[in-house]
Amino acid sequence: MIETVTPQEIDAAAAFLRSRLPRVPAVAVTIGSGLGGFVHQVKHLAEIPFGEIPGFIASTVIGHRGSLILAESDGVPVLLLAGRKHVYEGHPVDRTVMPVRVLARLGVKTLILSNAAGGVNRAFRVGDLMLITDHINWQFENPLRGPNLDELGPRWPDMSEPYSRRLQRVARDVALEQGLPLREGVYLAGTGPAYETVAEREMLRAFGADAVGMSTVPEVITAVHAGLEVLGITFVSNMLVGDEAGGTVTHDEVLENARKVETRFGSLIAGILRRLS
Ligand code: HPA
Repeated sequence: MIETVTPQEIDAAAAFLRSRLPRVPAVAVTIGSGLGGFVHQVKHLAEIPFGEIPGFIASTVIGHRGSLILAESDGVPVLLLAGRKHVYEGHPVDRTVMPVRVLARLGVKTLILSNAAGGVNRAFRVGDLMLITDHINWQFENPLRGPNLDELGPRWPDMSEPYSRRLQRVARDVALEQGLPLREGVYLAGTGPAYETVAEREMLRAFGADAVGMSTVPEVITAVHAGLEVLGITFVSNMLVGDEAGGTVTHDEVLENARKVETRFGSLIAGILRRLS
């Protein structure tokens, strides 16, 4: 489902944020499951609910944060997108990625994305962090469908290397420094909200996926189109294959395991931000 967010809407949101933010950092982080704790590990300088930003999707779920936060992580300025929107909620995909385009318009250069996913690489374990080296778009949707926004990027953007090699090196270095094992692999985004059947798990694995989730890929495509440098890190919240796969997958299991990695995940991101500053 494509709605077609207009360039005027993106400019209006960017102008609004420019008037509300004392400064615009070079780096933004999308807070996914597993990185929620990071929001509390940083110093908040300003917080703007999505509902106040023209064109942004407001959070309707009570207790679910939906806001853009200007923060400092160990003195390093960063913008946090807390409360991502998914296509399974029924939103048009281009509306869900509008924040990424607005960030690009504001002059943000680097986007770090986090998420939770089910592991289909048999070597993985619940709680692993995985550097995303590449992705598979299995959503049968592309956020760039519709008139191209020439001001932001080309009609037919190259996708041969969406995840910055430079940022991957930084992430590996920081993980090593922190003694944190970091897996690497291909993230596949399905539409959700249903988790995968057993047959689908095996199919996705055969396709070359290492982890399977319901987000991130539309944001990455949009960010690459707009010329942002992208880093993606997944936390393996459950295993879909192998000994640790219990058969069923529940959202509670995903959330419970997210809480267990929050501190580690947050330190990794803080370390990466320090290195990039
Ligand atoms: N499948 C899809 N998305 C997910 C999963 C999963 O097993 N776990 C967390 N997000």
